[in-house]
Amino acid sequence: MIDIHTHILPGIDDGARTVKESLAMAREAWSLGIEVMVATPHFLPGIDKIDNVRQALIKLQKELEYNSIPLQLCGGGEVEISGLVPGTWEKEDIPFLNFTETPKALLVEFPFSGLPKGAEEVLYHLVKMGITPVLAHPERAMISKKELLRRITPLRDEGVVFQIDAPSLVGLWGREIKERTEMLIERGFCHIMASDCHGRKGLMPRMLSDALTVLERLAGEEKAQEMVWDNPLEILGLSL
Ligand SMILES: [Fe+2]
Repeated sequence: MIDIHTHILPGIDDGARTVKESLAMAREAWSLGIEVMVATPHFLPGIDKIDNVRQALIKLQKELEYNSIPLQLCGGGEVEISGLVPGTWEKEDIPFLNFTETPKALLVEFPFSGLPKGAEEVLYHLVKMGITPVLAHPERAMISKKELLRRITPLRDEGVVFQIDAPSLVGLWGREIKERTEMLIERGFCHIMASDCHGRKGLMPRMLSDALTVLERLAGEEKAQEMVWDNPLEILGLSL
């Protein structure tokens, strides 16, 4: 598996607090068949610096080697959509997934209250600039199912990629979010599934392997494999 959305870097956001916690996450991930993890700390363009993420990433990768954990780490960030006002963010540090120039993809989140007004404009602007927006956990938007589908259908048509959270599918956030997640998968609104692990409150990498069993039942083994392997690899520009 490839886990494209994690908060494994220690002491940088609300994810792992210590190297020890990061190592526990990495060990668990590797033991369950996760080969690559993308570190995607919350990132505010204009405030946060890619260099800090890069340094933390190099340091943790060295710790993994020292502790004989063969997990490969990649860089990135999770950017709040309100931090991407067209005309201002283009000059700032932007943590594209895997820090690659080609392909360029960006993990974008929005407040749980729902997709804010103007979200579409921002996402289409990214697409126009040759950047693939990867929309994190659309199932957690607290708007009606009908409204959610109305808002996200044109996004998919324009090339926005949808990433659902494994904890949503296993029911960690309750029945309603689990049902929404299943609906999105069944209706083709899931390109990638990731753990969004934070190293605490049950948000661990094992969620991804637990959810994979559910995903295989819902979408079939082949599609499930695309969502945890082929699609994330393509987005990252990696071949393994
Ligand atoms: Fe996240």
